[in-house]
Amino acid sequence: MEGAEEMKHILGMTHLAKEEIESLLDSASSFKEILLRPIKKVPTLRGRTVVHLFFEPSTRTKLSFELAAKRLSADTVSISSSMSSLVKGETLVDTARNVEAMKPDVVVMRHGHSGACHLLARHIGCSVINAGDGINEHPSQALLDMFTVLEHKGRIEGLKIAIVGDIAHSRVAHSDIIGFTRLGATVTVAGPGTFFPCCIEELGALRATSVEEALEGADVVMALRIQRERQGRALVPSFREYAAAYGINMERLRLAKPDAIVMHPGPINRGVEMSPDVADCGRSVILDQVTNGVAVRMALLAHVLAGADKE
Ligand code: NCD
Repeated sequence: MEGAEEMKHILGMTHLAKEEIESLLDSASSFKEILLRPIKKVPTLRGRTVVHLFFEPSTRTKLSFELAAKRLSADTVSISSSMSSLVKGETLVDTARNVEAMKPDVVVMRHGHSGACHLLARHIGCSVINAGDGINEHPSQALLDMFTVLEHKGRIEGLKIAIVGDIAHSRVAHSDIIGFTRLGATVTVAGPGTFFPCCIEELGALRATSVEEALEGADVVMALRIQRERQGRALVPSFREYAAAYGINMERLRLAKPDAIVMHPGPINRGVEMSPDVADCGRSVILDQVTNGVAVRMALLAHVLAGADKE
């Protein structure tokens, strides 16, 4: 990998410089070529072990990390929250120390607590990759989103990205805002007032007063799921009212540039944050995001192991 120092951990976009992001996206594009071959496997991580600790539900991210590790010939094992001893009262640090005693090379973790991956990285010697920590960050999702935009638009700098939905509780929004603005895009966010953290401008995003204002002239339109599981109480009166006021439908999509692409990290609540015709339209790149996730995670695994080897 050229141009950027490899890092031992990937904990968030906050810690990645522009050059590191560009280098990871470059490397993901080489890995994507491998995924398009009939035999989708290279020996890069032969003899290495990747442990996946998923303490929150996941379909795309977990499968994608597991496939990425297998495509690189690593040995992989996974554990999810209901199967782990955390339900028996063991602390996260004790669980982590026990996992480390089995000598893995990388731990990929998703956890409901913001900062859990940082805690893990302080207590174990191997590499840690954050697969989503509470409402904080989801760096691999941001990188796959950036990769997908680059693939469809040929650049990130100068683009107008509209992100609509539950900004306050979305780790995807936080990581995307940091990543896209670091590479020179303008990110405009919209949604109900109850869905806004007080510091959104500090992250580098512009706040629109309506979904229409955010979508006007956008190159990329991204909708986010309402993170009900992270809200103490319902912050919108009903899904029907939310869809009417903020849902991305065909009429609203027409405000964006004619060649604007439509994105969603999944899982979609069809008819709430996005109408089914938008989710399935020719401009939707939602399934490309999923395909690209494997290539980006291959790049991340190779990157952290190169960083660990240098230590
Ligand atoms: C996101 C997550 O878990 O933060 N999903 C994902 O990783 N693809 C978004 C969400 O759950 O809404």
